[in-house]
Amino acid sequence: MEQFVIEGGKPLYGTVRIHGAKNAALPILAATLLTGGIHEIHDVPRLKDIEVMGRILGALGARFSRAGTRIQVDASTLRTCHIPDVLMRQMRSSIFLMGPLLSRLGEVSVTRPGGCAIGSRPIDLHLYGLQSLGAHIEEKDGLIRCSASKLTGATIHFKTPSVGATENVMLAAVKAEGTTVIRNAAREPEIVDLQSFLNRMGADVQGAGTDTIIIHGVRELHPASHEIIPDRIVAGTLAVAAAAAGGEVTLTNTIPDHLRYTLHLLNKAGVSVSPDGDAIRIRSDGRHRAVGRIETQPYPGFPTDMQPQMMAFLCLADGTSVICERIFDARLKHVSELARMGADLTVEGNTVWIHGVPHLTGADVEATDLRAGAALVVAGLSARGVTRVGGVQHIDRGYEGLEEMLSSLGGRIYRNSRSDSD
Ligand code: EPZ
Repeated sequence: MEQFVIEGGKPLYGTVRIHGAKNAALPILAATLLTGGIHEIHDVPRLKDIEVMGRILGALGARFSRAGTRIQVDASTLRTCHIPDVLMRQMRSSIFLMGPLLSRLGEVSVTRPGGCAIGSRPIDLHLYGLQSLGAHIEEKDGLIRCSASKLTGATIHFKTPSVGATENVMLAAVKAEGTTVIRNAAREPEIVDLQSFLNRMGADVQGAGTDTIIIHGVRELHPASHEIIPDRIVAGTLAVAAAAAGGEVTLTNTIPDHLRYTLHLLNKAGVSVSPDGDAIRIRSDGRHRAVGRIETQPYPGFPTDMQPQMMAFLCLADGTSVICERIFDARLKHVSELARMGADLTVEGNTVWIHGVPHLTGADVEATDLRAGAALVVAGLSARGVTRVGGVQHIDRGYEGLEEMLSSLGGRIYRNSRSDSD
């Protein structure tokens, strides 16, 4: 098992480029199943989740190849509509492969995605969306079979603006007969990037980024080439790390507007934040003030994927901040780990009071999921002494070489393989 070893207290200086967005690349790779021919997707990060998506596409019969950050997918010959359980369990978001497979093959079978550390993650909205387009769905012995001789456009109103369900319906509706309207759709930038890719393939999708998406079904699609948007959560994580550790850092290949809420909070805490074109400069002396109450919300609200990192940062703020996690019902597992480092946190249900302390102290902590892991790295960089973060495999799911990005900025962090006796 691997761990990150971090010697804290070193301010960060320099420039780092932000890699492509995991949560944009995954649905776009799923979209390549909609038609045969060779698609080219650029700036795709080297992440565990992308590898798993590659294995799923391969298991379905597509050819998936990588050269650097460019991926080619040729889905001309699909040999099955079944996604192996072992792969479904490795990545929840494989559920949005149902839409493109249903559209392309008229049927798909999957198992219910496995459990997740951050909470119960039902798929009722995915199934409601596909059923509204005319799919027949039956679930037996843990297997969900979905079939449709043809898909027909419909108006779909989501009770919650689910990112994955919005993407699944977009993917199923692009070749459906007639028009589909998604109301209360998710508005995340990754949805807009998926719309751009689908329209490059010849689809007719409008309104992504707003709460109403309109899809006019088309008969034919063709392969396309596309560059993935930068990862706003990776950019947000590095901005918070620089703010917590102190120093002066420039992030390049960013879209500052995509992380506007996070930058607003850093600014409110007294950190100097200067967006400039596709770059963001962060300057911090390491001391900052509390920011009041924050609630995680669907985009453009404060993202749940930045909640743990922001909490780690606010542990050292003068005063008390409050964070309320409104999206997932079990996304506070980092709280007890931060407390091991001397953080002063009070939890009540899904709300955490963060009472600022003069300093954190290095400790052995464990990442329980991707963003909780990133938060422990942020805390370790600003703590006194050495922090060992276990569970690095979680962090690798969403950050390509986090330790390399941070050590290129002068952070004292390295990856170490931990023997069982440690
Ligand atoms: C996407 O997950 C992201 N994953 C998550 O990022 C992110 O946390 C989440 O959106 C919210 O922003 C990818 O894009 C691959 P949702 P998704 O469906 O699509 C409820 C990370 O760290 N819901 O928008 O699975 C659900 O329980 C990951 O990179 C239903 O009730 O999230 C939750 O409370 C973690 N029924 C809310 O909607 C459904 O059928 C939002 O979930 C589906 C969802």
